[in-house]
Amino acid sequence: MTLWSGRFSAGMDETLWNLSESFSFDHVLYAHDIEGSKAHVAGLVAARLLSEDEGETLVATLEVVREEFATGSFERAASDEDIHMAIERRVTALAGPVGAKLHTARSRNDQVATTLRLFTRDALSDIARATLDLAEALMAVGERYPDATLPGYTHLQRAQAVLLSHHVNAHALALSRDTARLLDARGRTNISPLGAGALAGTSLPIVPSVAAAALGFDGTFLNSMDAVSDRDFVAEALFAIALLGVHLSRMGEELVLWTTAEFNFAVLGDAFTTGSSMLPQKKNADVAELARGKAGRFIGNLTGLLTMLKGLPLSYNRDLQEDKEPLFDSVRHVLFVLAALRGAYDSLTFKHEVAAAASNDELLMAIDIAEVLVGEGMPFRQAHEFAGRLVGQAVREGRTLRDVVAATPDGERFTALFLDGSGIERRTSPGSSGPVAAPKQADELHLILRELRVRVK
Ligand code: ARG
Repeated sequence: MTLWSGRFSAGMDETLWNLSESFSFDHVLYAHDIEGSKAHVAGLVAARLLSEDEGETLVATLEVVREEFATGSFERAASDEDIHMAIERRVTALAGPVGAKLHTARSRNDQVATTLRLFTRDALSDIARATLDLAEALMAVGERYPDATLPGYTHLQRAQAVLLSHHVNAHALALSRDTARLLDARGRTNISPLGAGALAGTSLPIVPSVAAAALGFDGTFLNSMDAVSDRDFVAEALFAIALLGVHLSRMGEELVLWTTAEFNFAVLGDAFTTGSSMLPQKKNADVAELARGKAGRFIGNLTGLLTMLKGLPLSYNRDLQEDKEPLFDSVRHVLFVLAALRGAYDSLTFKHEVAAAASNDELLMAIDIAEVLVGEGMPFRQAHEFAGRLVGQAVREGRTLRDVVAATPDGERFTALFLDGSGIERRTSPGSSGPVAAPKQADELHLILRELRVRVK
């Protein structure tokens, strides 16, 4: 028998049950649901809808039920449609008649919104923390090889030499924005819908801010209909994860490239690579491929949720139950990726000689030749044309650029440009990859990460 059976003369058809039960996936919300119920009890006591004794009995019983879930001894009854009804049914079985008062002035509609906000708040904190851990692991790679350089690419063609630290810090900076975005979303999640009832509030004298304060929410809902139908917080969490996932996929792709024989810029620790069932020599960067591949799942979960939400009439509709699996899935998998990628970067050996040889490719000095000429007063377009012609000549004649340049009038003044690393040395503009500018950015980035760490708590 379900908890709402009063109005019905026939039980639910099995096909509808299979379609609509959610306990099979929403049981993971048990701790947050119980937290919400305890705060609701506090609100009922404050409103004198429960005596102090009744309140204490209910809170103690909720604790017993939490323990049952935590130890795996909770037994689902056939009528337990979702986590909320399962807990209420069990509390009533354990506490007796007072259990029947737990749902006073509450609907599953405000209850589920509350529970899911509590879950999302914690999940966003966990993901933000793991994102910061990964950002720090990336910065640490650069700090392990302070002088290492590699070619910076555009269009995946060698463009200009850069410092390794500058390169990995670019990823870390994206992760710092992700962290800020996760925390911004957490702020908008942290509003209590409890007390909205089914959709329009209640005639009973509850004060929603009592439960909201007990749950550490920053405020309470302004409009009960919005409170039970709003899933913006789920959409925002899924977007923040999807964009984070896109960034992780770019790092994954880069690690795949770096660990190929063709690039050979990096080696991952054995614990972060896998072998082949057939080819004995293989050492595969599966961690990086999965970091790349999971982005599809995160984007899919976001688009699935938005599609479910579009066109829904106010206020609660059962469609909303479809909010949970995409959220649980994205949270679970992004935490897997963040942890494994962090380990992979910690284990990474950067083959700095190989990367330095690539970054000392003298064609990368073409822009520096042009910039010397600009320094001497030549308009940039002419300087670009001049340097481009020298590159073309070197390629056509199979000569080094250095030779071709030296053969131009006064060509010796360019010789110093061809010393290894001089391109990077000469780069001084703010935010650039140079030995003066880059450490300043790194200091600032460390500060940003530290401030975010304080914000996460
Ligand atoms: N399991 C439901 C959900 O996740 C709980 C709310 C059900 N409310 C209702 N009026 N049927 O959305």
